[in-house]
Amino acid sequence: TQSPSLATADPPANALRRLPDIIIIGVRKGGTRALIEMLSLHSDVAAAQSEVHFFDWDSHYRRGADWYVSQMPLACSGQLTVEKTPAYFTSTRVPEHIRRMNPDARLLLIVREPTERLLSDYTQVFHNRLEKRKQQQTLETLLMRDRELNLDYKALNRSLYHVHMRRWLDVFPRSCVHLVDGDALIRNPLPEMKKVEEFLHLEPQINASNFYFNQTKGFFCLHDRRRERCLHGSKGRKHPRMAPAILRKLHRFFHEPNREFFQLVGRTFDWK
Ligand code: A3P
Repeated sequence: TQSPSLATADPPANALRRLPDIIIIGVRKGGTRALIEMLSLHSDVAAAQSEVHFFDWDSHYRRGADWYVSQMPLACSGQLTVEKTPAYFTSTRVPEHIRRMNPDARLLLIVREPTERLLSDYTQVFHNRLEKRKQQQTLETLLMRDRELNLDYKALNRSLYHVHMRRWLDVFPRSCVHLVDGDALIRNPLPEMKKVEEFLHLEPQINASNFYFNQTKGFFCLHDRRRERCLHGSKGRKHPRMAPAILRKLHRFFHEPNREFFQLVGRTFDWK
């Protein structure tokens, strides 16, 4: 069973829509859908179904807080509301916009090894263009310019986590942002989700019975009181093979940005 939608039970009559307490700010292709689906296994969490793009799209932001609230799920008192819009992380005005609306927002950022994230990003754009029957560009054309890495390539820039993170930490204290290890979440979701529960001060509830490995999908799928579900087929795609020399170049390139990111956030990740 593969379903893109979040598990929803009928909300009680006294449920209301409210501004989100938790925002998953990115990073694009970090595993944001898996994270929100897994978080919504918790009975004290109500999750928005689709990406809201409130703080990054002017046309939405201009509609104001009432419109934003209208995009939120119905939540009971005591439940935390969460939305995810991965583009927030790399959008320059978003941190200040969020702070102005809710300085106490709890922010979740899921990151993944930067080269792998770049490949995933490229693959997503490739599929989108395929659907729209647009002309494709190879990864190498996009990535290389005059035999050097093209720093203007958006998918490369989005993996420069330290650049984007610095802007968030200019606005929010480090304690407001919890980092989820997207590679660890793929390998074994439970430990990462226990850390998320702890950060959000949620009663420990998510447990091993919520996850099972699906051989066909090659990923963990979810299991709760209501049903079993895997993420949509667009999550967990095959990535293109890259020439080993370019791959080495990328790994070398990301070494210093990664070090800066680790320093900024006060922890490391097990990246190449
Ligand atoms: P790939 O499709 O490149 O493998 P996002 O939801 O932010 O777009 O991230 C998509 C990524 O989530 C997928 O990238 C996949 O690797 C990752 N992911 C993490 N846990 C997953 C799960 N349980 N099922 C499917 N994909 C998962």
